[in-house]
Amino acid sequence: MSNATNLNTTGFSKQPQLSGKDFLSLTDYQADEILYLLEEAKKLKALQKQGKPHQYLNGKVLGMIFEKSSTRTRVSFEVGMLQLGGHAIFLSPRDMQLGRGESISDTAKVLSRYIDCIMIRTFSHETVKELADNATVPIINGLTDLHHPCQAMADLLTILEHKGRFSGLKLCYLGDGNNNMAHSLMEGAAKVGMDISIASPPGYLPNGKIIEASIKAGKQTGSTIMITNDPVEAIKDADVVVTDVWTSMGQEEEAAVRLKAFQAFQVNTELCKHAKKDYIFLHCLPAHRGEEVTAEIIDGPHSVVFDEAENRLHAQKAILKLLLE
Ligand code: CP
Ligand code: NVA
Repeated sequence: MSNATNLNTTGFSKQPQLSGKDFLSLTDYQADEILYLLEEAKKLKALQKQGKPHQYLNGKVLGMIFEKSSTRTRVSFEVGMLQLGGHAIFLSPRDMQLGRGESISDTAKVLSRYIDCIMIRTFSHETVKELADNATVPIINGLTDLHHPCQAMADLLTILEHKGRFSGLKLCYLGDGNNNMAHSLMEGAAKVGMDISIASPPGYLPNGKIIEASIKAGKQTGSTIMITNDPVEAIKDADVVVTDVWTSMGQEEEAAVRLKAFQAFQVNTELCKHAKKDYIFLHCLPAHRGEEVTAEIIDGPHSVVFDEAENRLHAQKAILKLLLE
């Protein structure tokens, strides 16, 4: 596909072959694969809303390793597997031998003998890659310091539901440009042909390699990428306004410095006056009202954060179905 205007989300003649593939970052996925996953998510959501059975993963088991806290990821994956006819096992490194020094590679090889897929939330992205290199079952990234692709898929689904398209839209992300959400949204927007602007203070700009890969992907779809220190320039005429916490998990010691550095990037009524009148507001949650976003915005009429949270379930069910079928 060469142009964003050619990208549509319906009428795919051929299902992309995703069976057995890992889901580590959106860079690893083609535009048509991402769009297909979103179509599948819509179908699964409709089936669930109509109360129709959709047990495509009967007897399949997902192992979920969490080295960081989670509400949405844990519950949506567990419920998703149940609704698909399978089962999920919560694996805490506190209880596993992994927490006592057993290697990631041995853990990957052993778990691959029992279960059909592993979801992991951890710190270093290298850990997820090592798990994927050594497992014989698909690995899903449930968040690393570098990427949060499942959340980005839920965000894309939410944008599609509320705006009906990607082409011609501008997504503005304000705050920590060097975190997992900024990276995965940049990759996702570039792949689906949506423009993206990221405004962050100096020292908190996105990872250079991810910018490069996104620019390359954007050239295929017509998506433009703007990285700036100016929040007003970034949010101007935005259709979608996104932020995330200023201090991500694992950065707690830097919280005071970050609180100061990000003040001008708070999503508030004044700043949002520069967005389009019908903009939608997204936040992956958990949120800190009064820090990265005011209560007036996150609890206001433009906010779709709970649709977004719900869509974690539907987007991940599509990922699980296509990777495990
Ligand atoms: N958005 C998100 O990943 O939430 P949890 O940390 O609660 O899983
Ligand atoms: N950037 C946040 C996302 C939480 C879902 C973090 O990594 O803590």
